[in-house]
Amino acid sequence: MVARYVMSIDQGTNSTRCILFDHHGRLASVAQREHQQHFPRPGWVEHDAVEIWRNLQRIVPETLSGAGVGAEDIAAIGLANQRETTVLWDRATGAPLGRAIVWQDTRTEPLVTALRSDPGDEFFLARCGLPPSTYFSALRLGWLFDQVDGLRRRAENGEVLCGTMESWLIWNMTGGPDGGLHITDATNASRTMLMNIRTLTWDEELLAFFGVPRPMLPEIRSSAEHYGTARSLLPGVRITAALGDQQAALFGQTCFSPGEAKCTYGTGSFLLLNTGSDLVRSRHGLLSTVAYKIGEQPPVYALEGSIAVTGSLVQWFRDRLGLISSAPEIETLARTVEDNGGCYIVPAFSGLFAPHWRSDARGVMVGLTSYITKGHLARAVLEATGWQTREVVDAMNADSSVPLKQLKVDGGMTADNLLMQFVADVLDVPVVRPMVAETVSLGAAYAAGLAAGYWPDLEVLRRNWHRAAQWIPDMDPARREAEYENWKRAVERSLGWVKP
Ligand code: G3P
Repeated sequence: MVARYVMSIDQGTNSTRCILFDHHGRLASVAQREHQQHFPRPGWVEHDAVEIWRNLQRIVPETLSGAGVGAEDIAAIGLANQRETTVLWDRATGAPLGRAIVWQDTRTEPLVTALRSDPGDEFFLARCGLPPSTYFSALRLGWLFDQVDGLRRRAENGEVLCGTMESWLIWNMTGGPDGGLHITDATNASRTMLMNIRTLTWDEELLAFFGVPRPMLPEIRSSAEHYGTARSLLPGVRITAALGDQQAALFGQTCFSPGEAKCTYGTGSFLLLNTGSDLVRSRHGLLSTVAYKIGEQPPVYALEGSIAVTGSLVQWFRDRLGLISSAPEIETLARTVEDNGGCYIVPAFSGLFAPHWRSDARGVMVGLTSYITKGHLARAVLEATGWQTREVVDAMNADSSVPLKQLKVDGGMTADNLLMQFVADVLDVPVVRPMVAETVSLGAAYAAGLAAGYWPDLEVLRRNWHRAAQWIPDMDPARREAEYENWKRAVERSLGWVKP
């Protein structure tokens, strides 16, 4: 019998989602569950890895029953995941050692400041393509070794394992009495600061520098190959892909050729430009990262502009300020006013990522007068996403000889028409969204389906991409540039807030 679907698991910052896709890349069934965000101290963000695993155990059967199918109808499983979030667990019991430390967490800020002056950014950029930042996993490991007595010794003995979320879930899905597979893929490993970006192996110098014992690290595999077979959830089904969620979205948007780019608007927003087999070094604050590696084929690289806070600013506006009761309401509220009333919000909650890489920045709201209403604030919240995208696109255009001509977008925030029009306006290029906006999940499914022979090649996947919406720039250039100058002045005010 020919399997009907590929299953995709997207373990994201806010929720875990399971989707079945058919041969045409159409969504057949979906289930999703949110997990709790823990903010134990200012700047700290944690997740409970067991809660996430339990959520997955619930949504997989829900997804199957949504389509009225069983494990025998599933050709393969692919995973996509929030990147950089780091979890440690006990090899013998499988129990996590504390909560996972999330990519948005800034507790390692003092260490970042020290590393940027000695040995300096270049030491790291040359080896792993990343500058020191609270964003990446290696610094969290260093912090944990300092805090937890005996941890390094246990890690050296192989008693404690570490991984990002795909490692944790694959370990659990393939687990038996002797534990599961302990693997990661090259895209996820490229976000740890521990993998050599050229050889795609753990870099001895970086491991020594951060004092990370090799036995605790997962084996680095390609993004699409037969890793192993699930023992729980879907016993007997092959797991054939894993990618960091942003790389999965690039794949789901079928940006397979050099020069193709996408931006995914989720908790944060991440613009990736395919640079093919060339590892391009940015001179304007972008990251060099692995886009994907299919089986034995050479890796494909990307330049990435990572923006830490976009959708999570809307969540903050909803949950911490209580100014709206659901995320879509922000558009309605923003439409109650004509413009931002002179107000700008720079959401540097986790410092500023690309192109600034300033861990010492913190959020600011400027331009307040007694004229400002919550409608203006709603506009400033949405516009912050547009201006941050503009900064990243400026950096990308400065790095590449060919300026961006259109931007493919996806993710939850693309449902907001006001925002998407604003993005087109401030970039001055058309913005297009495909029929399947769940491109993270689709990309993981595509990679898994390719490795399992469910789809024959990339060309077939390309033919599945269909445009659903387009926004054409419509802003007076003088106004655009004047407001961009205001934004830049607001950014200046956010820098250096955290004193050494
Ligand atoms: O690098 C962090 C990124 O992978 C998180 O993505 O969509 O889960 O917020 P998202």
